[in-house]
Amino acid sequence: MKYKVVLTGETWPAPFAKLKEHCDVQLWEGSGPIPRELLLEYLQDADGLLSVSHGIKVDEELLSAAPKLRVVSQSGVGYDNIDVAACTKKGIPFGNTPGVLVEATADLTFGILLSAMRQIHLGWNLVKSGQWREVMGTDLYGKTLGIYGLGDIGTAVAKRAKASGMNIIYHNRNRKQDDDQLGARYVSFDGLLDEADCIVVLVPLSDQSRGMFGKEQFKRMKATAYFVNASRGPVVNTDDLYDALKNRKIAYAALDVTDPEPLPGDHPLLSLPNILVTPHIGSATVETRNRMAMLAVDNLLAGLAKKPLLTCVNPSVNYK
Ligand code: DGY
Repeated sequence: MKYKVVLTGETWPAPFAKLKEHCDVQLWEGSGPIPRELLLEYLQDADGLLSVSHGIKVDEELLSAAPKLRVVSQSGVGYDNIDVAACTKKGIPFGNTPGVLVEATADLTFGILLSAMRQIHLGWNLVKSGQWREVMGTDLYGKTLGIYGLGDIGTAVAKRAKASGMNIIYHNRNRKQDDDQLGARYVSFDGLLDEADCIVVLVPLSDQSRGMFGKEQFKRMKATAYFVNASRGPVVNTDDLYDALKNRKIAYAALDVTDPEPLPGDHPLLSLPNILVTPHIGSATVETRNRMAMLAVDNLLAGLAKKPLLTCVNPSVNYK
């Protein structure tokens, strides 16, 4: 008999075919995220949960509604929506998809910084509206990029920034061993705010990082600073960011993630002239999303077979 797996949205043909070869798949095909009640109903007799959408909350309530659940797998690297401790307590391994999305996410992160600094999106808007005129940007060359959260994606962003002639400083909880090879200089958090011409936020959302960028931090940054968030919206206090942009405490923001997310079309942030927002598309390329989906399927199948997941967040879990 095949395992029953709940799939929270449509995925790519090859990973979907692999999943169906091994499992009976209960797929949510509706538009938007699967309603919570329906998800809990689907999970009553499910052996696995494969989440391909942002923000499916996996918590005690969900796990209790799924007594047969053996594994949770999510296509995505961030897992602030998953109560990993609760999974571990119930003997359920949880897998995410790090690594395979690094280059695509770094491209998008550096891309929105470049677009903001050179006003590429504004130039295109002008041309489209029949106005052929110059827009003045600011040089990347010679500027100091401050990375908050220098992990794999941050390192890949730093390499792109180096190629554009930028100097790199960074702040992490701990200094990275190999930062001199990358040519990145470790600074305190306040040092990052003081020195950087552009700040890129790539830190995962946690109790420590929630609201990390607010009034005080924007006040401390240079009035000419460019601010990029490509991690999770709630790392930034949105009202304080609005205030900082409106009152020119900083120059510009480029956001791939927002709080709230999705950002409503009439949100005050969108009325500002000095902001660029993209709809959380850091990893959204055909190749990368396929790799993520395949890794998520492989993690799920490993968990169902009680084998170690390829990329497991709680590898020391005692399988139930
Ligand atoms: C990730 O993989 O965490 C991306 O931000 C998509 O959620």
